[in-house]
Amino acid sequence: MTATQAEIGKREAARAALLEVRSGMTLGLGTGSTVRYFLEGLGAALASGELEDIRGVPTSQDTELRAGALEIPLLELHQAGRIDLAVDGADEVDPALDLIKGLGGALLREKMVVQAADRFVVIVDPAKRVARLGTRSPLPVEVAPFGWEAHLPWFRELAAVPTLRRTLEGAPFVSDNGNLIVDLGFPGGIPDARALDDALARRAGVMESGLFLGVADRVVIGDPDHLEILDRRPT
Ligand code: A5P
Repeated sequence: MTATQAEIGKREAARAALLEVRSGMTLGLGTGSTVRYFLEGLGAALASGELEDIRGVPTSQDTELRAGALEIPLLELHQAGRIDLAVDGADEVDPALDLIKGLGGALLREKMVVQAADRFVVIVDPAKRVARLGTRSPLPVEVAPFGWEAHLPWFRELAAVPTLRRTLEGAPFVSDNGNLIVDLGFPGGIPDARALDDALARRAGVMESGLFLGVADRVVIGDPDHLEILDRRPT
C-alpha cells in the first residue's frame, strides 16, 4: 500500500466514524494522523450546521490546538461527565480488537478518555492490522521520571527490549503529563498481553501502558477499496 493509499484509507475510516456522531454529543477526541481527518470532518460539519451542540474532550495538547483552530467547542475531562463517543486511532489492532496505542505519546490521556466513554470507535489504515500485538509496533509505557532507569531490568525480565523514547533532537521525550515514555520491543510479539497488562498495572512508577484490551467497541479499517467494520462481539 502506498502512502497516498494509506492516507485515503485513514480519511475514509474517519468519515465512517463521523457518521456515528449526532448533534448534542460529547466526544472524546483522540490523537494522531488518522484522527486529524476526523477533526477536519467534525469541524466542517459544525461550520455547515450539519452538526450542532457538540463538545469535545481532547486527549493531547496537539489535538486541543487542532480542534481549537477548527472551532470545535472543548471541555476538560472532569467537566464532561460521561462521554458519548470516543474516536481515536491505534498503532496495532489484533483479531480480538485489542490494541496497542501511544506511538504519539498520548496514551495516558487517551485511556482516561476511553474510560469515561460509553462507546469507543477506533479508526485505522490496514497496515495497523496484526495477528499478534507487538509484532509491528513497540509497546509504549509511560513512566514517572523519578527512578525510571530502575524499571529497565524489570522490563527485561518480562522479555522486553526497553528503549527510552527520544525527540528527533535526542532529548528524552516528555509527555503532556511531564512523564517519560519507554518503548518495549517484543521480538516475535507479546506472548500474553493480559498477563503483561496486569504486571504493568501493578508496577509503581509505571503510569500507563499502551495496551488497550477489551475496550474497542468498533474498529473501522479504512482500506481505499473497501471499508471494513469490525464490531466487538457481545460478552
Ligand atoms: C497517540 O498517542 C496514539 O495512540 C495514536 O492514536 C496512534 O499512534 C495512531 O496514530 P496514527 O493515526 O497517526 O497512526
